[in-house]
Amino acid sequence: MKKKPALPFVFINVAMTADGKIAPANRHFKPFGGPRDWQHLLELRATADAVMSGARTVDSDRVNLGPGPARYRRQRLRRGLAEFNLRIIVSGTGTIDPRAEIFKHRFSPIIILTTGRIAKSTLAQLRSLADDVKICGASQIDFSAACQWLHQKWKVRRLLCEGGGEVNGAMFQAGLVDEVNATLCPLLLGGRRAPTLADGVGVTRLADAARFRLASMKRIGSELFLVYQRSGLR
Ligand SMILES: NC(=O)c1ccc[n+]([C@@H]2O[C@H](COP(=O)([O-])OP(=O)(O)OC[C@H]3O[C@@H](n4cnc5c(N)ncnc54)[C@H](OP(=O)(O)O)[C@@H]3O)[C@@H](O)[C@H]2O)c1
Repeated sequence: MKKKPALPFVFINVAMTADGKIAPANRHFKPFGGPRDWQHLLELRATADAVMSGARTVDSDRVNLGPGPARYRRQRLRRGLAEFNLRIIVSGTGTIDPRAEIFKHRFSPIIILTTGRIAKSTLAQLRSLADDVKICGASQIDFSAACQWLHQKWKVRRLLCEGGGEVNGAMFQAGLVDEVNATLCPLLLGGRRAPTLADGVGVTRLADAARFRLASMKRIGSELFLVYQRSGLR
């Protein structure tokens, strides 16, 4: 029997409104989760070898994808993880702002996943900015191949995916998501173009939906902290 390729455990973390949005339609993000949600994000990062986000998330806010204050870094060390997690940016064409906040913090390697659509000059620029740039696919990122490569080359065993909707959607589409951590926040944004937990092409048949079971649900104030785990084996 052919051995299955080794993949990281992939978990998504997202704060969403009661109508499932993760940012307003103009994509100008202002955190809408409470202090407990921010703490939750850092606690999850403290269990991950790598944190991954899409280009539009990385350049939409003061995002550095790092572990945060010293107490979270101590948690990482106690777990046998590196003090600082790896940081991964997804960009099929390399439209990452070179002045983005993330490049101003050099505490851990920054890895860019891209495709054959990237222009040569952009590739050269990103290679000078990041620690590793990997072309995974001709026009769309082949996330299965990317995850295998991250597991093998960068020893990523737990990969935290922090959106946005396009990247999350592609990860569901590839059948790679093991767990979803969603904080349901008490506000509605509306807007048919506002990003949601999972965008991208999605599925057309219910039978193809990614299936999860509700593993835990905690209410803190008016926020609900939900954990969904994939039902069935990968
Ligand atoms: N509430 C929350 O918890 C939360 C979390 C994260 C983000 N957000 C918000 O969500 C918004 C961003 O989400 P978004 O969906 O617009 O963007 P995104 O997922 O952050 O990034 C999209 C970009 O990633 C690349 N990409 C994604 N999937 C790809 C694939 N399969 N193949 C190749 N490239 C791929 C493309 O880059 P190129 O265009 O360079 O090819 C695409 O434009 C922001 O407003 C952000 O603040 C909210």
